[in-house]
Parts: sequence; C-alpha cells; structure tokens
Amino acid sequence: MLQFPDMKHAHALVMGNWKLNPGNTLEAKTLFAELKKKIPKTTTAKVVVAPPFLFIPELAKGAASVIKLGAQDVHYEERGAVTGEIGAGMLAFFGVEYVIVGHSERRALGETDTQVNKKVQALLKRKLTPVVCIGERLRDSQGQFFNHIAAQLKALTEGLTPLQLQKVVIAYEPIWAIGTGETATAENVKEMQLFIVSTLTKLYERKVAEKVRLIYGGSVKESNAKDIYEQGGMSGFLVGGASLEAAQFAAIIKAVE
Ligand code: 13P
Repeated sequence: MLQFPDMKHAHALVMGNWKLNPGNTLEAKTLFAELKKKIPKTTTAKVVVAPPFLFIPELAKGAASVIKLGAQDVHYEERGAVTGEIGAGMLAFFGVEYVIVGHSERRALGETDTQVNKKVQALLKRKLTPVVCIGERLRDSQGQFFNHIAAQLKALTEGLTPLQLQKVVIAYEPIWAIGTGETATAENVKEMQLFIVSTLTKLYERKVAEKVRLIYGGSVKESNAKDIYEQGGMSGFLVGGASLEAAQFAAIIKAVE
C-alpha cells in the first residue's frame, strides 16, 4: 500500500478556524493574546488563526510573527455588485495570508465546486494561500466516497498550472468528523493522503502532486493530534472547536513539532 513515500512538509501548518466565534472583538483579542502567550516563539510549526472577518483588522494590529492571520472565506470578485461579500484584495490589505475555501459548512449553504475553483484562482492572483476543504459526508463500505473526493479534487484544480497547484493547501475534512467528536483514525487519514496524492498524480504528475500540502481537520484535539500527525501522513491540521481554547490549541501545535 505504501506506494508513495511519506511526503510530509518539513514544517507543519496548524490553522485554527474560529467559525462564528467568539462573540465580540474584546473576546477575540483576549483569545488571540492568550494564544500568543501559549505558543512559543521558537515553534517550528506555521500557526494560523482564521477569525470572523470583523475581527481581522483589530487582530492584525497585534498579529505576532508566530501567528499568521487567516480568513474563513472570500468572494471571487474583487469589487462590484455582490452584496455582503469580501474580496481577496481586502483580505490582503489587512495582512491575511491564508484563506479557507469550500468548507463543508459553506458548501452546505450552497457554495459550488465551480465557485470554489474561482475563489482559489482569485486568491492565488493576490498571492494568498487557499486552504481548500474537501471531504465526504459519510463513508460507505464499497468505498464510493473516494469518487466524491476525486471529483472535488478535479473541480478545485480545474485550470490551475502545476506551479499554482503547489501553492494550494488541501484540507481533508470528512464531514462526519466535524464537530462530532468522531475522528478519522490515523489509518483512514493515511489512506486518504495516498488517495489524494494518486488522484493529483493523474491530473498533474507525481512530482507536482507530492509538493501539495495536505492537512487534516475534524475533531482534532490534544488527545488525538500526535497519533494522526505521525501516522496519518498529513502536514498539519485545520482545527475548529479546539482552536478556541488556547491551551488545547497550543498542545496540538506542540504535537506536530
Ligand atoms: P472541529 O475541529 O470542531 O471538528 O471542526 C473542524 C473544522 O471544521 C475546521 O475547519
């Protein structure tokens, strides 16, 4: 089964997705300050926090080199008649470096594969790193869910050059593991890592596929991070709930160092 060697990146990426939390700027600043205190400046991991849009300008003032800023979504247009949206240029202006797209919670609200692809292109144009989420709703014993993952990969990479693809982070987030406390096993994750690399190899070539950073998300916490990181073959995590507790988030970071 080990058709591919371990293609882990030298340094892990740990991104906290705060989702619709916390309730106000003051709480956001407090949480951010706690994280800064708990994460050692010497950490080898790339640490990113993606707060709700409204807190970004305030947190950008206190962003330390150890914690980079992320966002949870973006629109593919930079300007125009698109009520309620935020463009990549606006995010770049505030120092955002990583942007989640295609999160299952946004796909559930109607985001399509085509929109995900357009968002990836818009972010790359602005030199922002897209963190594209893919994942199956459920696992079936015949392994049909792998077809769903392959289709998502094909759609998100449409029109991307090999060089562009290498700048994209792919987050495998099985929907059944998000916020449920259920986690994919390290074996499940490893199997998916191999599948993603082999699918990207068919679309590009192996050399390119191996350079794409893959991370895992879905109920990651202090207690399972080390195991999934060491055996799952992924180069980091996208953390939801546990990123809202400074001590938990710091412990996850420690697990990948
Ligand atoms: P949880 O870590 O809360 O399961 O959320 C995962 C997630 O959706 C990160 O984007």
